[in-house]
Amino acid sequence: MDQRSGPVTKTPNLIRVLSGAVCDPPPIWLMRQAGRYLPEYRAVRERAGSFLDLCYAPAMAAEVTLQPIKRFGFDAAILFSDILIVPHALGQHLEFREGEGPVLEPIETSGDLDRLSLEGVASRFETIYETVERVSEALDEDVALIGFCGAPWTVASYMIAGRGTSDQGPARSFAYRDEKGFQALIDIIVEASVNYLCGQIEAGAQAIQIFDSWAGNLPDDQFQKWSISPCASIVGAVKARYPNVPVIGFPRAAGPGYVAFAEKTGVDAVGCDTSLALSWIKSKLQPKVAVQGNLDPLLLVEGGAAMERRAAEILEALSDGRFIFNLGHGIVPSTPPEHVAKLVEIVKGRLPVSTAAD
Ligand code: CP3
Repeated sequence: MDQRSGPVTKTPNLIRVLSGAVCDPPPIWLMRQAGRYLPEYRAVRERAGSFLDLCYAPAMAAEVTLQPIKRFGFDAAILFSDILIVPHALGQHLEFREGEGPVLEPIETSGDLDRLSLEGVASRFETIYETVERVSEALDEDVALIGFCGAPWTVASYMIAGRGTSDQGPARSFAYRDEKGFQALIDIIVEASVNYLCGQIEAGAQAIQIFDSWAGNLPDDQFQKWSISPCASIVGAVKARYPNVPVIGFPRAAGPGYVAFAEKTGVDAVGCDTSLALSWIKSKLQPKVAVQGNLDPLLLVEGGAAMERRAAEILEALSDGRFIFNLGHGIVPSTPPEHVAKLVEIVKGRLPVSTAAD
């Protein structure tokens, strides 16, 4: 007889790994696993109208969150939303234009911060929490639900430029020109993000990922200031309220900066990008935190023996420690869904890797 009161629940493998266990085979999920490479996503997306409308429609957002779980049997679902929901909730104008990506009203000087308000954010996040609740109710108990936000640096880079940029030049210049003003913007994003993540956890998210997709363009001193420090503030504040909810950080392209990020932010795991050597991940990061990654998304587009070989190498290098299989960055829209299905089979050990000639 179980001594605990209440129903006996099964802890998802993803949560077990984030809590320190080694799972063989490792759990697998993929960044941007819900998206345009899936015909069933494109159908719902068309029904919704715009991408933002889809993010704010709980029934449809829950449906697309669950699509990749139903199709591939991943070990985790990630809330379908976007990192730019936070600036939108702060009152910044946002649209997603077809073929162009996000367009925001740029923040050019610290005076423009007056246009942002923390007051309304809680109510603006409500529909997103409803998506989390719906997904949480629908998922089997062995599949984890991941909530997320963008890291303050990455979010600020969009808020300042008003669009995606290849080098985050506008935000880097702003931080040098007006450090106080930039810090004020970061502080606002930290507060809104903590609020957002705690709401997601209350609604049923069991783990959190913080996406610092543009961390790699920060010089080392700036990386400490604008990536590590604000991420540490978010992790500290979330863990003060929810000490048992694990956090994954993704300081993409931070190179050797990954070590300080793993040591200083308080995260339980780091998402590794494709530039990190497997032997380096194993010796420098895996002893400190769980590691997640790092197949090249383009190998998933190509599929075949090259993908299978690399997936096997990653498994061989990292599976005897705390490890979650993932990509080094998000899935790209041209990915054939059959290749994703094949990858899952390989990671689960249900398919021998093809021995095609080298
Ligand atoms: O992973 C998931 O499946 C969950 C949903 C999710 C989306 N975006 C959906 C999305 C998550 C976790 C994100 C994070 C995100 N959004 C990041 C960090 C991760 C990364 O890829 O680096 C960033 C930088 C953004 C900002 C963003 N959203 C951009 C630059 C774009 C346009 C580029 C593009 O891919 O079209 C988006 C749009 C977006 N977010 C789409 C999806 C499925 C495509 C929009 C569509 O369906 O029309």
